[in-house]
Amino acid sequence: MRITLGVTGGVAAYKAAELVRLLQKDGFSVQVVMTRGAREFVTPLTFAALSGQKVITDLFGDSSGGEANLESAIEHIAVAQRTDLLLVAPATADILAKFARGIADDFLTTLHLASTAPVVMAPAMNVNMWNHAATQENVEKLRARGVKIVDPDEGYLACGMTGAGRLAGQNAIVAAVRETLKSQRDLDGETVLITAGPTREDLDPVRYISNRSSGKMGYAVAEAAARRGAKVILVSGPVNLEVPAGVERIDVRTAREMHNAVVDRFAHASIAIFAAAVADYRPVEPHTEKIKKSYAALTISLEPTTDILAEVAKNKGQRIVVGFAAETDRVAENARKKLSAKNADLIVANDVTAEGAGFDQDTNIVTLFSRDGRDLALPKLTKNEVAQRILDEVLRLRGVLHGTAEAKRSRV
Ligand code: CTP
Repeated sequence: MRITLGVTGGVAAYKAAELVRLLQKDGFSVQVVMTRGAREFVTPLTFAALSGQKVITDLFGDSSGGEANLESAIEHIAVAQRTDLLLVAPATADILAKFARGIADDFLTTLHLASTAPVVMAPAMNVNMWNHAATQENVEKLRARGVKIVDPDEGYLACGMTGAGRLAGQNAIVAAVRETLKSQRDLDGETVLITAGPTREDLDPVRYISNRSSGKMGYAVAEAAARRGAKVILVSGPVNLEVPAGVERIDVRTAREMHNAVVDRFAHASIAIFAAAVADYRPVEPHTEKIKKSYAALTISLEPTTDILAEVAKNKGQRIVVGFAAETDRVAENARKKLSAKNADLIVANDVTAEGAGFDQDTNIVTLFSRDGRDLALPKLTKNEVAQRILDEVLRLRGVLHGTAEAKRSRV
């Protein structure tokens, strides 16, 4: 496991040296990244000697006179890809603000945006800075995004004041790292079946009825579930997306093909997530030859397709079944109706008319309506973040409905 340790500028920076040693003792390989502020307190040499790896200090390599080279200019991408967890200790008020806002003005902040790894931050600062509304808002924003914040300890601070602001103990930080990594594999042993994308219903050999679904939301859930250790089967309509690593994709075109692919696999799944925008109607009888233009009005008879979710969820046993509801009005009312009509456990509802939500976007604004009565309205998040929150809610809900994950698996 590879940890990237971001050290930022505070008196507690020297304590990060001991942290490197402890993490290594735990079997982690540690890449240290220091901000300019951190280098005012400790030299990179200390960390290089302890970690046995070159310390990264600059976005464009050594800027002391030398020319920036391409290799160092894109190093943050390479480091991001090999980072299993990003730990920032000590984290200043400044770095909390930058991470919360998504600012990318040095190596560490740029790496933060380029990485999809979980983030743990251990703040350390003056008590008033920690308690300041701006800092607390930033911390809340980061927590809402899934960042693990290791709260600072209370005590005597370097500035002479007493209160909360001391860097948490190193053992507590290492424990938070271990726990975060473990929670990342909380779908180990699960089989997650996911539908995604649109379907196409043929009118004739060259024309079809379809919709604007890009498949991004379903693919984000598939990627997140695979990263969290699940075996993932993705039944996908036609989309322009790469198969996420470790995911088995079954390509389908029509609602009928999707139905068949799902029925065959539902029995083996412990969690099923229906993110596809399945056509509700298909032409009763597609023309075998291209429909010729005439200047008279054309009427096409449509018949309803099978509601795949509702059909398989009738006999879902203790599987957790998640549906999506794309709405344009009365979101909560329609979502709750779908929850019971389709025998689902969770409905992920969004108002597709809202800005930053809906089709072919990288962000989404959703509310999760659970069978146990909880409504969880999430802020505007990336689809990857929404995917993580859906999976968190699935596991929470299963705990409430059926007991622990272990108990559940043995009963499916
Ligand atoms: N769904 C499905 N099979 C269908 C239609 C919908 O599995 N033939 C699933 C979708 O994947 C989604 C959920 O049902 O998880 C709700 O889809 P949505 O289109 O919002 O609802 P509908 O039931 O089609 O109702 P309406 O379009 O009238 O809102």
